[in-house]
Amino acid sequence: GRQLQLREVGGILLQAATVDNWSEIQNFEAKPDDLLICTYPKSGTTWIQEIVDMIEQNGDVAKCQRAIIQHRHPFIEWARPPQPSARNAKDCMVSYYHFQRMNQVLPDPGTWEAYFETFISGKVGWGSWFDHVKGWWEIKDRYQVLFLFYEDMKRDPKCEIQKVVQFMGKSLDETVLDKIVQETSFEKMKENPMTNRSTVPKFILDQSISPFMRKGTVGDWKNHFTVTQNERFDEIYRQKMEGISINFCMEL
Ligand code: A3P
Repeated sequence: GRQLQLREVGGILLQAATVDNWSEIQNFEAKPDDLLICTYPKSGTTWIQEIVDMIEQNGDVAKCQRAIIQHRHPFIEWARPPQPSARNAKDCMVSYYHFQRMNQVLPDPGTWEAYFETFISGKVGWGSWFDHVKGWWEIKDRYQVLFLFYEDMKRDPKCEIQKVVQFMGKSLDETVLDKIVQETSFEKMKENPMTNRSTVPKFILDQSISPFMRKGTVGDWKNHFTVTQNERFDEIYRQKMEGISINFCMEL
């Protein structure tokens, strides 16, 4: 396996390059009309980034082709840049596992059994899924936060995209909205070199191990979790999410 280690800042494990930029991240000041996307890894970050840019460009595909998504929506730790997007923990764990297999600048995830423990303990890059989701859920009503669920976006993309449009204070024609729904489908984004990470060199993302646009479904966890793992996970989830009235759809 890869001999790579994450580094810790304030109890959260991060990629070394992120830690190197830590003072810049801490000194980041948002402007009043900035839109920050605050996803836990593998919860549909790229998807919502593309949707937001499509809305900003009024559905103009050519304008959205001007650069790769990482440049149109820079990560706060990489450059300059709230809108949390949450995905159920089980599918998120599966997606993150495959991502760590192919991402050569993150630690090797080891076996699925080992990764299951790593994910539950929160000792993964950018911290614990539980802390992220709980944290945003608890403050969402006190700030201007639009909380979106990956599963809702899969079930009814038009309705969820419409929420984003409203949140951004815009209104779009029905035809533009329909176009955005089409252009941001998994199939389209998997083919699109500006969103599928195909321009990232193989020594960073090795898509022959697992494609960045992998499956894009709800319920893939059923192909990974054993019955025992599932029961154990549900119990841990109950403990960690106690008192939180959040409901995740686990299959469509
Ligand atoms: P899977 O690994 O389950 O396929 P992030 O962008 O936060 O890293 O999230 C990546 C996950 O979102 C991957 O999940 C990826 O396939 C999925 N995804 C990306 N674009 C999508 C889209 N347009 N529709 C549905 N899922 C999408």
